[in-house]
Amino acid sequence: MIPAAGLGTRFLPATKAMPKEMLPVVDKPAIQYVVEEATAAGIDDVLIIIGRNKNNLSNHFDSVPELESTLERKGDHSKLAKVQHSSELADIHFVRQGEPKGLGHAVLRAKAHVGDHPFAVLLGDDLIDERDPLLTTMLDEHTKRGAAIVALMEVDPDSIHLYGAAAVEATDDEGVVKVTGLVEKPAKEDAPSNLAIIGRYVLSPSVFEILERTEPGKGGEIQLTDALQEMAADPDGPGVYGVVFRGRRYDTGDRVDYIKAIVQLAADREDLGPELRPWFKDFAAKL
Ligand code: UTP
Repeated sequence: MIPAAGLGTRFLPATKAMPKEMLPVVDKPAIQYVVEEATAAGIDDVLIIIGRNKNNLSNHFDSVPELESTLERKGDHSKLAKVQHSSELADIHFVRQGEPKGLGHAVLRAKAHVGDHPFAVLLGDDLIDERDPLLTTMLDEHTKRGAAIVALMEVDPDSIHLYGAAAVEATDDEGVVKVTGLVEKPAKEDAPSNLAIIGRYVLSPSVFEILERTEPGKGGEIQLTDALQEMAADPDGPGVYGVVFRGRRYDTGDRVDYIKAIVQLAADREDLGPELRPWFKDFAAKL
């Protein structure tokens, strides 16, 4: 499931009439990268939680007969393939969140669709570079341990107040830690570590019972981190484990990170990189 119902206030006014997950990163909306990441990990059923301005998000994953027939008539097959790709990626479903009461509340809206199966949560504004796969490792860890799996990343201690922070213990597996506690957006001095939860989770449906009774927490929102903290603290449950990610990640809900994502991805692309890289060098030299 991909929650994409937040208000995106950091990106106003761009997000006044458009979800932030639809902001283009080079030439694709951010959320398309996230759907592609899910399908690359073998997931073919995707539920997107949508809020206001839902139409342009759902339209993006639908076919557009007028545009497709025009491109076909012109014989522009490469553009036609680009248009059709997003509507053929996966079996995509949409559910409204109603009010944006927090990430935990958005996840709870997936309950009926998920049923009895484990599922992955991928935040629609958080891009993981396809060259640094993460989700497959997380799905494997879930199968192996039966536990909730979160993605963790070391961040500058001065930024930990923007994330959920994890207290952890080492395991015998390199890159995998046991999560012993979680705090949502702690002050630097209260953070248990500088390991931040980033936008990937693999969960069992048992999380829904916990979310149903999770009271609003930080910011008055129902926090997924608070439900995960309850799982981590339960001595009789399978617990919570973290996969520590050391690859490239872009938070496209943040303006500076969004610009970095575009620069890095465009510079690395075969079609745009050769023209852009010398320009970037020249531009940087003048700064
Ligand atoms: P964020 O906190 O980054 O989203 O939520 P936001 O509230 O839209 O951002 P700002 O701070 O106002 O700019 C993380 C993810 O959870 C989704 C968001 O769409 C984003 O992908 N979300 C958040 C929901 O789907 N519903 C909510 O009620 C809150």
